[in-house]
Amino acid sequence: MIGNDIDYAASLLQQGRLVAIPTETVYGLAANALNEEAVLKIFKAKERPLFDPLIMHLPSFSLVEKYCISIPALAYQLAEKFSPGPITFLLDRKEIVPDLITSGLQQVAVRIPDHQLTLDLLSNLDFPLAAPSANPFGYISPTTAQHVQQQLGEKIDYILDGGNCRVGVESTIVGFENEKVIVYRLGGLSIEDLEAFAKIVLRINSSSDPKAPGQLKTHYAPRKPLIIGNIEELLSANAGRKIAIMSFSKKYTTETIVLSETADLSEAAKNLFSVMRELDAQDCEFILAEEFPDSFLGKAINDRLRRAATRD
Ligand code: TXA
Ligand code: MG
Repeated sequence: MIGNDIDYAASLLQQGRLVAIPTETVYGLAANALNEEAVLKIFKAKERPLFDPLIMHLPSFSLVEKYCISIPALAYQLAEKFSPGPITFLLDRKEIVPDLITSGLQQVAVRIPDHQLTLDLLSNLDFPLAAPSANPFGYISPTTAQHVQQQLGEKIDYILDGGNCRVGVESTIVGFENEKVIVYRLGGLSIEDLEAFAKIVLRINSSSDPKAPGQLKTHYAPRKPLIIGNIEELLSANAGRKIAIMSFSKKYTTETIVLSETADLSEAAKNLFSVMRELDAQDCEFILAEEFPDSFLGKAINDRLRRAATRD
């Protein structure tokens, strides 16, 4: 069921049930983070392997102290500037955080989502919400309540509808080492924005190794093959075949779906996942896409496209 009743959502979560929640990045599939039985339901519904840890969502950064220790000064500074917002912090956890959330790792991922409905919901609960993106494992993340309904509707008790996600790609994941910010996942907060505040080290893996959670090579993937390259060349090499095309701002053919007519990277990021879904549902053999400018949200878009194009 889809609706916007946060009291109902809260009562389900208190009973250990699953509720999909809107955030500014993508929709999450939420459960009481302190209830292992409830958290297990998330893994089951998504068919997600237990080695892939979950992000804990809180209504304010001050509550992080209840769940984490040794929080670096730099984390407070970034939180002050960017939270609530599309940034996730990797911090040393306290005992109270269940092993299931972190897949046994010593650090837990925490974030304060910037969506009023979900902030209100979180403020009404006396526990944090564990929430991965609300898609079957490996598929494209949902940016509307309807996306969630289409794929996981039968497995979820309630979908809290907060409209279209404003950012459209997942949060940027950061950790801290010796006064430096280590970026583990490119996301909705750009590297350029972070660089204004701290020294940044990129540690973006693309590995099939389950020990490198969150950085699996194949991810965010449509069912149809996705090919990245020069669209004009790919079109002439594949003349006569049924092809779907996704571009930044140029209309290569009448069927091309453009992510931003004004070539705005934030608008393109916002549209990326819903267009990928739309093209995946088209009657075509494969999807062509082009590389985006490698700056601001273009970096996160390119990362998602590469993982979507990888097949192993
Ligand atoms: O924007 C977002 O972050 C969304 C919304 C719903 O908040 N959530 C999201 O969750 O993208 P998920 O589970 O789809 O991606 C979180 C990534 C995972 O790939 C996971 O491996 C990584 O964060 N992660 C979580 N906890 C971690 C930890 N303790 N250490 C390393 N990586 C972690
Ligand atoms: Mg995900």
